[in-house]
Amino acid sequence: MMKIGIIGSGHIGGNLGKHWAKAGHEVLFSSRHPKELDHLAHEAGNNAKAVSVTEAFEANADAYLLATPFKAIDQISEKYAGEYGDKVIIDATNPYPERDGEMAQEVRNANYNATEYTAMKFNTAKTIKAFNTIKAEDLKNQAFRHDNKLSVPFAAQDEESKTIGKQLIEDIGFDAYYVGSLSDSNIMDPDQEIYGKSLEIDKLKKLVIEAREY
Ligand SMILES: NC(=O)c1ccc[n+]([C@@H]2O[C@H](COP(=O)([O-])OP(=O)(O)OC[C@H]3O[C@@H](n4cnc5c(N)ncnc54)[C@H](OP(=O)(O)O)[C@@H]3O)[C@@H](O)[C@H]2O)c1
Repeated sequence: MMKIGIIGSGHIGGNLGKHWAKAGHEVLFSSRHPKELDHLAHEAGNNAKAVSVTEAFEANADAYLLATPFKAIDQISEKYAGEYGDKVIIDATNPYPERDGEMAQEVRNANYNATEYTAMKFNTAKTIKAFNTIKAEDLKNQAFRHDNKLSVPFAAQDEESKTIGKQLIEDIGFDAYYVGSLSDSNIMDPDQEIYGKSLEIDKLKKLVIEAREY
């Protein structure tokens, strides 16, 4: 059983939190308006509650899911990275200039991957990139399958985050596919080869190999 802090509890954070609570993990949902998350926490059951972002970080969770709009990374890291930088952070965000503004365009244009930006901002050696490539609808409806499981690609910065990432993907009934370190996660970014694809593991693996041969 792990304690998981959800930072940003919308389509992605809300559904992932519900799945993890169902799988037996302790879940803390947070956003700027935690009162609005009481209903979600209630739906998720006894393993879940709604708290402020500060309370979530203070709770010293085993892992944090970052599922806010990309632009919030700047504000959240500015506020929390100093004191709470040394955390395992699962980064599900994607930079969209039309939603996130110029900073997202800069990250899109940069010679690093989106999650390397997150890792730099949070100053942590334990960043996992995962759940950013799957459509919210599939995340919601295709978890806990016994056969023909969908796979969730992930990248991780070190062994601890790799182990945690794999487990948290598999615990909710997806196959985990390890793409490599954060510097290998370019194929997961918006408009890249495996972005927006919900595939079984053989097909995903084939796409990754083709992308790397190209
Ligand atoms: N939707 C998809 O299909 C999909 C798939 C994969 C990845 N993603 C990525 O995942 C991230 C979340 O997407 P989503 O569709 O789940 O968004 P969403 O439904 O709009 O949820 C965003 C959540 O973040 C919270 N939030 C916003 N600013 C915040 C801040 N400064 N501090 C703390 N919480 C904040 C919001 O609540 P408050 O406004 O009340 O704070 C809300 O709970 C995005 O980066 C998106 O690109 C989306």
